[in-house]
Amino acid sequence: MALNVVIMAAGKGTRMKSAIPKVLHRIAGTSLLEHVMRTATTLGSSRTVVITGHEAAQVEASLAGRDVQFVRQEPQLGTGHAVQQAVPALPDAHETTLVLNGDVPLIGAATVQRLVDACGGRRLALLTIELADPTGYGRVVRAGDAVRAIVEHKDAKPEQLAIRETYTGVMAAPTALLKRWVMALKNDNKQREYYLTDVVAAAVAEGVPVVAEHATSETEVAGVNSPLQLAELERAFQRAQAEALMEAGVRLADPARLDVRGTLTCGADVEIDVGCIFEGRVHLADGVRIGAHCVIRDSRIGAGTQVQPFTHMREAVVGERAEVGPFARLRPGANLGPEVHIGNFVEVKNSTLAAGAKANHLAYLGDATVGARVNYGAGSITANYDGANKHRTVIGDDAHIGSNCVLVAPVTIGAGATIGGGSTINKDAPAGQLTVARAKQMSLSGWKRPQKAKKA
Ligand code: UD1
Ligand code: MG
Repeated sequence: MALNVVIMAAGKGTRMKSAIPKVLHRIAGTSLLEHVMRTATTLGSSRTVVITGHEAAQVEASLAGRDVQFVRQEPQLGTGHAVQQAVPALPDAHETTLVLNGDVPLIGAATVQRLVDACGGRRLALLTIELADPTGYGRVVRAGDAVRAIVEHKDAKPEQLAIRETYTGVMAAPTALLKRWVMALKNDNKQREYYLTDVVAAAVAEGVPVVAEHATSETEVAGVNSPLQLAELERAFQRAQAEALMEAGVRLADPARLDVRGTLTCGADVEIDVGCIFEGRVHLADGVRIGAHCVIRDSRIGAGTQVQPFTHMREAVVGERAEVGPFARLRPGANLGPEVHIGNFVEVKNSTLAAGAKANHLAYLGDATVGARVNYGAGSITANYDGANKHRTVIGDDAHIGSNCVLVAPVTIGAGATIGGGSTINKDAPAGQLTVARAKQMSLSGWKRPQKAKKA
């Protein structure tokens, strides 16, 4: 069935005390509004209308390239007034219109689908939840079982304040009726606002059936109004992700100390120690072990590989049975073959290391092609940048680069070559030979250390 989705995102979010519009604050690295958009997309929305107001241009830019229509609400005179702005953008031919809140990011697609089904293009369906403390929320007023109205907290009579069933801000309504109802709203209430929730009484007056569907958890209907609520929802979201990973067999040292900001997929027998952050798309193959406090973004790690604590990785590919870290940094284009070892304080960028190559200490490999079993000594670097352009370093299989070498690119080190420690190499080094490029060592036999002058 064709569906309109309206997302309300015009509010300022005063309690965030931030220059960033509220719906652009992030959970798991993704804006609140984007979370809601993704849910709308899962539902197969035929038309998505986003209502913007406060910092409208910035909010609209955040959804650039998406198939959405924006309508502006200026000034913001309430949720009913917000939907009024969307009315011209809602085709009647799409029988159901779903209203979502841009600041309720974790609303479940299954729950919303249930609401859309309950509406069926003919009933007004409200998403409600029983709260131990309903303070501030609109109350669902019933006569017997039948829903009669929603009364806002500020307008509620004392006996209505005792009602614990609250409106979550999410509804699905027959499109043509919703449009007529919102255009007829009045603002004769305590806040002098046009309340979207007044459409309930309008439906009841016309004999249109009103149904209430219950949300499955408080988390999915929780709004973000303050940094504290944002952090609470972040933790709830991360906890759910951690549980899903553990259900799939991933062993987390502590589910409370994992952050996935994107998609983490894992093979069998993956272990992740505390304090790790995964961003973008990360894949860990069978038997991968990740040490504590690693930050890994958009990378793939091969089976049996161990990543030691405090390693950073971004846009890297690591082969099987490799060892990386502690304190290693793999930057974009780092491509490590099987059984490669990258040790502490080693930085690799846009470089390929073939099977079994090792750079174990304090080194830089940038724009390099490194052969199999190469041993790259401590303190060695590729000087890949001449101040204007980047150049490649090629190191053949089984080469041995001593400590503290500077390989000035473009340069090629032949297979099996040995480069003496401390060499600055700016010409190609032949295969199989020892190449040394440094001042010759000498010793002076008659030399005397300077002495302090004696006091007179
Ligand atoms: C609303 C409901 C209340 C419900 C609660 C759930 C109304 C009148 N009340 O109250 O019954 O329990 O949500 O959280 O709808 N917005 C606009 N333009 C406006 C005003 C608001 O776009 O002029 C947007 C806000 O950015 C927000 C959403 O609408 O995303 C809800 O607005 P908010 O002010 O939070 O409504 P509540 O008073 O919480
Ligand atoms: Mg609110």
